[in-house]
Amino acid sequence: MNWIVSFLTVGLAAALFFPAGSAGDAAASFGKTSTGMEVKLYFLRNKHGLEAAVTNFGATLVSLKTPDRHGKLADIVLGYDSVTGYEKGKAYFGGTIGRYGNRIAGGKFTLDGITYHLATNNGANHLHGGIQGFNKVIWQARPLSSQSLELTYTSKDGEEGYPGTLDVKVTYTLTDNDELRIDYEAALAPGKDTIVNLTNHSYFNLTGNPQNTILDHKLTLNASRFTPIDSGFIPTGELRPVSGTPFDFTTAAAIGARINQTDQQLKMGIGYDHNFVIDRANRKGLVKAAEVFEPSSGRVMDVYTTEPGIQFYSGNFLDGTEKGKGGQSYCHRSALCLETQHFPDSPNQPAFPSTTLKSGHRYTSTTVYGFSVR
Ligand code: GLA
Repeated sequence: MNWIVSFLTVGLAAALFFPAGSAGDAAASFGKTSTGMEVKLYFLRNKHGLEAAVTNFGATLVSLKTPDRHGKLADIVLGYDSVTGYEKGKAYFGGTIGRYGNRIAGGKFTLDGITYHLATNNGANHLHGGIQGFNKVIWQARPLSSQSLELTYTSKDGEEGYPGTLDVKVTYTLTDNDELRIDYEAALAPGKDTIVNLTNHSYFNLTGNPQNTILDHKLTLNASRFTPIDSGFIPTGELRPVSGTPFDFTTAAAIGARINQTDQQLKMGIGYDHNFVIDRANRKGLVKAAEVFEPSSGRVMDVYTTEPGIQFYSGNFLDGTEKGKGGQSYCHRSALCLETQHFPDSPNQPAFPSTTLKSGHRYTSTTVYGFSVR
């Protein structure tokens, strides 16, 4: 009897909070994968008309429409028109990256005395979770409201070489404060320890037209140090002060202002492709990591994160060969990424904040992208 009452109560509450059509009413087909799996596109909208589209393929942010200073909406992220592009693409547009975002030297690491071997899909190194990372698998999607979508995926013990079965949950929420909030959670099954470092790989062009480069975007990074890299983009272990270098974005600077300077680290990265150490001053939780201002449209994007680092990538590998939305070419430096993260290669760098997740434990991480105009 009791369960009937609670069933009815829960059902009634659900009907009141999510009247028919409000939760997930806006899902559309996003095509079929090469193996014939149907993939969907979910739309989130807030009260100011901002709109995000997310697909359950790769828990990927497909489009994000925000207003310019005249209130005109435009899509500010790169991507493709259907799942086929995401299946074939090599640039990780908008994808959820895991189990380990960024690089692991030699594709190997040792945990609890066991050496694990991961796919080496970036020269000699492992990048962004391997050959079939979290951005290339189908997730279970569950709309929580018209402004929030939950995606879940179980990464099995041994997948891409990683130990332990990991249940992953990513929740996208488009708030009425004009923020896109991404909450990451993961629960590791008892038995083996693992490593986890989740991020989102959106490519932003705040002009709303990726035929423009991002070189005039003004960037501020709350980071007085960065992690210099070797020729394989692996951190050397040093935390180097940005002061007096082209890596100093502690005050706003145009991305293009110093990108062609003679600098050993810019040469290594073929531009900016580096992890910055966020200045936290012992604060835990969400802190502001970055701000991007695009002068022609007036768009401003603020990035807040619970993570210790942020990869600033200036779209150096975009070369026009990747054809995106509407068949358009995405040319060199037509977008930038700000990937919140633990530092690259942390499993092999004992002095870096640890990315180990203990057997039976949970991982959480949050990143918030706030949008406004100036
Ligand atoms: C990350 C890496 C870059 C590049 C892109 C994807 O940001 O740091 O070197 O691999 O992903 O092209």
